Amino acid sequence: MEMVTLKIDGHDVLVEKNATILQAAEKAGLKIPTLCYHPALRPDGNCRVCVVEVAGARSLMAACIAPVTDKMVVNTNTPLVREARRTNLELILANHPLECPTCKRNLNCELQQLALDMGVSEVHYQGRQRELPMDTSSPALVREPDKCIYCGRCVRVCSDVQAVNALDFFNRGFDTEVGPPPGYNLNDSVCVQCGQCATTCPVGAIYEKSVVDDVWQAIADPNKHVVVQAAPAVQVS
Ligand code: FES
Repeated sequence: MEMVTLKIDGHDVLVEKNATILQAAEKAGLKIPTLCYHPALRPDGNCRVCVVEVAGARSLMAACIAPVTDKMVVNTNTPLVREARRTNLELILANHPLECPTCKRNLNCELQQLALDMGVSEVHYQGRQRELPMDTSSPALVREPDKCIYCGRCVRVCSDVQAVNALDFFNRGFDTEVGPPPGYNLNDSVCVQCGQCATTCPVGAIYEKSVVDDVWQAIADPNKHVVVQAAPAVQVS
């Protein structure tokens, strides 16, 4: 296997020729923050939280998709890199509801953790926020599209791994939506309720439905008939 040597933050790293900068940094024990990246999925490079400085490059590069080259010199923690990551994270947060205490993923949210790790406690950008309806149509999953950060992890796991293709990107720019086609619910789609989208979602945009969700839905919409079944009794012999 052909190998290359590069320098990351002053460390010489020997990696396979087809590795990414992120993989090389991991090999050197260096942590680069990521958000749209998931180790089980093909990288997409769309959040730009993992940007690094590469000597000679005209712009910062996303470490999760940038391939290494021999004698490359990479810096992962310069003021320029830190500022760019913060800006990118703030732009994601600017279109994300900051209702963490009432969110299903509170304290188990990659976006929340990243903001904590990077010391981002306020957002300097203000703009229109999407207000998209919740999708509770599925017996197994709940979608909250206004919490989606467009990382595409659910789309990649649904298409590349599960080969179901129930979720995709639709529209462009501010009108971009991730899910079944706009106007359709999850229950109208080819979703097989495998739950892999919920497992890979870094935030609270899609999660497994619980009995509690059905009860809350019934309170919010009394016309919706919800049957809550008691768990079967356990027989002790
Ligand atoms: Fe690399 Fe999102 S983690 S671009």
